[in-house]
Amino acid sequence: MINAVSDAYSRRAVEYVERFASFGAVHPSDRHLVATWANGIDGAVIDAGCGPGQWTNFLNEAGVPALGVDLVPEFIAHARDTYPGIPFRTSSLDNLDVDTGTIGGVLAWYSLIHHEPDTIHTPLLEFHRVLSPGGALLIGFFENHAIEKFDHAVVPAYRWPVSDLCDELVAAGFDILETHARTTTGQRPHGAILAIRGDAR
Ligand SMILES: C[S@@+](CC[C@H](N)C(=O)[O-])C[C@H]1O[C@@H](n2cnc3c(N)ncnc32)[C@H](O)[C@@H]1O
Repeated sequence: MINAVSDAYSRRAVEYVERFASFGAVHPSDRHLVATWANGIDGAVIDAGCGPGQWTNFLNEAGVPALGVDLVPEFIAHARDTYPGIPFRTSSLDNLDVDTGTIGGVLAWYSLIHHEPDTIHTPLLEFHRVLSPGGALLIGFFENHAIEKFDHAVVPAYRWPVSDLCDELVAAGFDILETHARTTTGQRPHGAILAIRGDAR
């Protein structure tokens, strides 16, 4: 699956950058949520699955040192050209190649949507590993009443109920702080979860 995701985004990287590298398609309340979340973080943030890097830059401009990580070399090349001075790295979310317990926050904004439900545990454990105790996680995703696969424009993706994703987070060692769900006419239902690394692991 991981190669299929990387290949599909690589093939459509130019188109994706044209459509989504700006904040035109982002709901204003999402910008507010990410900014508010970032404001309370102590330490660096990983923008996990950063795509063209616009959220990485957003975090940096909000005063939070951010590292952008993505599977797709074309996105990382674009991000490095567009935002010189911000670090970007080609890497899998399943293995971030970052020291254990060194990161203040992980933003996974619509980047876990392509994981098969029975594999989503892997990146969540990896996020838990890299976060410092009390480190913060924010996930954005397509929300639904049941886990459901659908034909995303680039490569198949999954919609998740907030409660099911919360269960996965708790199983990976996170404590849930807040959940959000939003339905807007003409847009796919959206969910967001804020969690912190629990002490249990
Ligand atoms: C829908 S895009 C979202 C990009 C960006 N977060 C945004 O909000 O514009 C999903 C991104 O997640 C990345 N991605 C998906 N699975 C990944 C994985 N296993 N490792 C690293 N990146 C991944 C894709 O390459 C793509 O850039």
